[in-house]
Amino acid sequence: MSHAKLPAGLDRKEAEIYLGLNPDRLPKHIAIIMDGNGRWARRRHLPRIAGHRAGVAAVRSTVETAARIGIPALTLYAFSEENWKKRPRTEVNFLMRLLQRYLRQELPTLNRNNIRLEYIGRERELAPEVQERMQWAREATADNTGMVLTLALNYSARSELVDAFNSLVQAAARNGGIKHLQVDEDAISRHLYTRHLPDPDMVVRTSGEMRLSNFLLWQLAYAEIFVTETLWPDFRGSHLLGAIAEYQKRERRYGGLNDLAGEAGRVAER
Ligand code: FPP
Repeated sequence: MSHAKLPAGLDRKEAEIYLGLNPDRLPKHIAIIMDGNGRWARRRHLPRIAGHRAGVAAVRSTVETAARIGIPALTLYAFSEENWKKRPRTEVNFLMRLLQRYLRQELPTLNRNNIRLEYIGRERELAPEVQERMQWAREATADNTGMVLTLALNYSARSELVDAFNSLVQAAARNGGIKHLQVDEDAISRHLYTRHLPDPDMVVRTSGEMRLSNFLLWQLAYAEIFVTETLWPDFRGSHLLGAIAEYQKRERRYGGLNDLAGEAGRVAER
């Protein structure tokens, strides 16, 4: 395993962890369930929204570090479809304003790091001004060729599957009729919101909960699951690198007895 050079911009702690990684076996796509903002705030006797505000610094650090070390795709679960119904209106409104501010303020950072922004979720159900800001940021980063940062907003994996099946049926109806409809795994993947992405190799969840919470249920079929007790507002690039170190320790089997070909490849790489 060789490190041609340390990526620019890593702090000392990040550099230390990075040097223990195999740069040839970085995950191609990392998905993160950002959780624990409320608990972070409660422990400090602050309102819940203070936790969300502090969560933005965690987003910034995680996104920059992932881009700097060359992760091709990062997907963040920012707002689930269920969040609408289960949280007070004031908190939902705050989250929407925070998102708009994040998109406006972070654009220079996204562009400096060559990051392209994408979204998954039922965008059209969001307020028009939120949609406009999202579209604006997507267009402003559309020519970037580095990491794809996908924000899951008003996202639900079951709704995504419902939308994919409807889209498959409609496409078949347009192309010669439903009797020609052939459904296989590739066809379903091509109709998911994530058609621009490979399936995640790893999913990270902060704050210790052991649930997928309706996130990328199809796409996470073979993903390594990494749960950390760290609350989201305390999460930084160094924690992401720690999760990648753990990922590299695990053996991926894809349902077989052993990933022999993969292991042989890895031995050859070392
Ligand atoms: C979960 O914490 C977090 C959220 C529902 C919102 C995520 C939002 C951010 C990290 C801030 C901004 C994000 C972007 C992309 C600008 P929780 O409130 O469920 O925490 P709890 O389980 O401790 O109550």
